[in-house]
Amino acid sequence: MEKKIAVIRGDGIGPEIVGEAMKVLTAIAGKYSHKFIFEDVDMGGCAIDKWGDPLPEHMLKKCLESDSVLLGAVGGKKWDSVPGDKRPEKGLLRLRAGMEVYSNNRPAKIWDVLSEASPLKRETVKKGIDFIIVRELIGGIYFGEHKTVDENGEKKAVDVLSYTESEIRRIGKIGFETARKRRKKLCSVEKSNVLDSSRLWKSVMHSLAEEYPDVELSDMLVDNCAMQIVKDPSQFDVIVTENMFGDILSDEASMITGSIGMIPSSSLGATSRGLYEPIHGSAPDIAGTDAANPIGTILSAAMMLRYSFDMEREADDIECAVGRVLEAGYRTRDIMPTSGGMNNTSDASDNSENSANSSLHLVGCRKMGELIVSEILGAR
Ligand code: IPM
Ligand code: MG
Repeated sequence: MEKKIAVIRGDGIGPEIVGEAMKVLTAIAGKYSHKFIFEDVDMGGCAIDKWGDPLPEHMLKKCLESDSVLLGAVGGKKWDSVPGDKRPEKGLLRLRAGMEVYSNNRPAKIWDVLSEASPLKRETVKKGIDFIIVRELIGGIYFGEHKTVDENGEKKAVDVLSYTESEIRRIGKIGFETARKRRKKLCSVEKSNVLDSSRLWKSVMHSLAEEYPDVELSDMLVDNCAMQIVKDPSQFDVIVTENMFGDILSDEASMITGSIGMIPSSSLGATSRGLYEPIHGSAPDIAGTDAANPIGTILSAAMMLRYSFDMEREADDIECAVGRVLEAGYRTRDIMPTSGGMNNTSDASDNSENSANSSLHLVGCRKMGELIVSEILGAR
């Protein structure tokens, strides 16, 4: 099969982690006789520097002409002072909206071999952590009006949060469908004790529930959900929630599985063209030090093969290779049990082996990518 993949390396650690995912995709192409054509796309801070815009129209066009998009991460301190509508993150939001990928799927699953890396109590981890956050991605407060005005001699900032019934309905359906393929439990998360948008959210979810009698629907307020995720994550199967709540809860959920550096995501809309990205940020503090964990991006590439290209075997191959490399004891810093919970946003000035556990080997981003490629090619 021939597929055109738009590749956005982005900023910070983005180029490093995407580079490793591309090596993995190239290995898969060779092994299974596919052809992946990579098209470089500038987005984020690097696009601001080069084009004066975080996502120039011709770059968005390249993405819309591709079969799917693989993204590293965007943003960094360098662009913190640019106006809101020109920030690197704005490029990402415009890309998601331009591709109409309204459904963001973020798995929170603990790898047995990494259970030590979870900050939760062992008894809690033992009960199992395996849920998915289905996050609405192109509506809500991130896409409402943003403005800062002068009022009564001071500044006032306004961000508008709105949802239509149809926007809620289409993401709700994804939530129910996802739960139907799993343990059939859907938890709709909102703040209906305060927000109108949440009350509408809740009522649409309940009307949809009639179409999915086999799925058990429950409601949870977002503040309680944040607490329940650390108290007893085993209670969750699928969580469906709006854009900002999903953004926040998915970072929390990733951390309890060991490291945000491990978590991939897929974003899909009405077509098979998807956007695949790890959920972590650009970690400028460790950029260029070879300390980033490329696994979140590599697993995102696996999701691309599975969900957009129907390449189940190939996706399984990548996921198994990652599992075997972890089982063999290779760890990037963020998943070293004794590294004090460091993650992709940590300082990487000390890259030395500091684990008390001698069966584990500390490796950098490149080495981790190479090991996974070797596993896929059966060469390790
Ligand atoms: C994420 C990120 C983005 C978001 C930022 C970079 C705009 O935090 O993908 O979770 O808020 O969606
Ligand atoms: Mg986020």
